[in-house]
Amino acid sequence: MDTLLQAKQLLEQGELVAIPTETVYGLAANALNSEAVAKIFQAKNRPNFDPLIVHTFEVGQVEKFVLDFPPILQKLAEKFWAGPLTLLLPKQALIPDLVTAGLDRVAVRIPRHPITLALLKMLDFPLAAPSANPFGYISPTTADHVRQQLGNKVKLILDGGASQVGIESTIVGFENEQVTVYRLGGISLEQIVQVVGKVHVKPHSSSNPNAPGMLENHYAPRKPLIINELNLNQFIQQGYWEFEKWGKINAEDMAAISFSQTMPLIPLAQQIVLSPTRQYAEAAQNLFAAMRSLDAMNIKIILAELLPEEDLGRAINDRLRRAAAK
Ligand code: TXA
Ligand code: MG
Repeated sequence: MDTLLQAKQLLEQGELVAIPTETVYGLAANALNSEAVAKIFQAKNRPNFDPLIVHTFEVGQVEKFVLDFPPILQKLAEKFWAGPLTLLLPKQALIPDLVTAGLDRVAVRIPRHPITLALLKMLDFPLAAPSANPFGYISPTTADHVRQQLGNKVKLILDGGASQVGIESTIVGFENEQVTVYRLGGISLEQIVQVVGKVHVKPHSSSNPNAPGMLENHYAPRKPLIINELNLNQFIQQGYWEFEKWGKINAEDMAAISFSQTMPLIPLAQQIVLSPTRQYAEAAQNLFAAMRSLDAMNIKIILAELLPEEDLGRAINDRLRRAAAK
């Protein structure tokens, strides 16, 4: 059978299907069916207080699920949909409370991946989908990543190749008469400011009641990830580094993620350069796969270099800092 048709049938039966998007892979269920949505939380081991994004294929559909769509957010939608932008809008009763964790706004997004757009058009309901990873782990950017971790919990994984953007969507809402950015992501702050002018950036944390899911300790590999602050001269002289928390670690036991240049002493096979030509988009594309592959190596810690705080560098740094928070 045609895999899209199979996906359609599974979703209509209230089952889970993993879907490709341009940001990361999602674990999808019928957003209007609480029982189906409950399976997402189960499969991911995700706490119920962490709300889900609802995906659809056109703005006309969004209007069916929301009570109000502030014109300034419509401007963002016009500019960046289909694409890595999620908008928080006051929800209609038709969206189950489980999807929004009881909040009165629902997160909506039109993804840009052709396979998922085709699937959404075949369905007469939207899809609730968080990233298709176990809760707290790194988001998947290939079908294989999903297979490795949730393969036995999902009936079908649609393979749409490697995600082009590579980091999750930027989440934006309108609060206290201000455009507010709740999560940095695939649309840069600069791009948003260009459309709406000044924005308020609300740093996400577990203590922020408006974004209960935006936990600080997130996107994390199993191995400790440390933001690289080594003194290079001293490191080269010693051949090891003494970490406050992890003690003395030799260069051979380290892995490294850098923006454009490798680190001295650390074996090259244990290093990933995100973009030799310093392109933020390429760095974002490679980030999560890099974290995964180093996490799987026989090393003790992963050193990560922060990027300049601009463009997608901000979102990349946000993910690295969260990964390091463990
Ligand atoms: O790019 C993406 O956004 C991907 C793809 C699959 O679309 N999805 C994604 O979903 O990253 P997830 O669940 O891993 O992250 C969504 C975040 C949650 O952590 C949650 O805090 C926030 O969106 N969110 C969802 N609904 C919300 C709401 N009603 N109010 C505040 N925050 C919300
Ligand atoms: Mg996630």
